[in-house]
Amino acid sequence: MDKVTFIERNDTEHIAQFRTGMALMQTAVEYRVPAIDADCGGSCACGTCHVIVSEERFGEAGKNERQMLEMKPERGETSRLARQVETTEAMDDLVVRLPEYQM
Ligand code: FES
Repeated sequence: MDKVTFIERNDTEHIAQFRTGMALMQTAVEYRVPAIDADCGGSCACGTCHVIVSEERFGEAGKNERQMLEMKPERGETSRLARQVETTEAMDDLVVRLPEYQM
């Protein structure tokens, strides 16, 4: 299994293992990462799985995802909705920062 580190705004780290092919959001929910609300269950309707990945984007955000991210005050250049990011082996040791608020 590969691992990803979720870091909250207060620098609290949550290290989670993932199976390739899982959505990043699914991993966070499984490990009860507190700053991932995932209110809509990942249907790209709420934006409460917003994350900021450490490196380059992993694939391009789709139209709906981009529209949702545009409403996020804490969005960054590498913001993604965690449900839309499917994990791959290349993501081992990925670092993901979490926004202060999910809204
Ligand atoms: S959980 Fe709703 S958009 Fe991600």
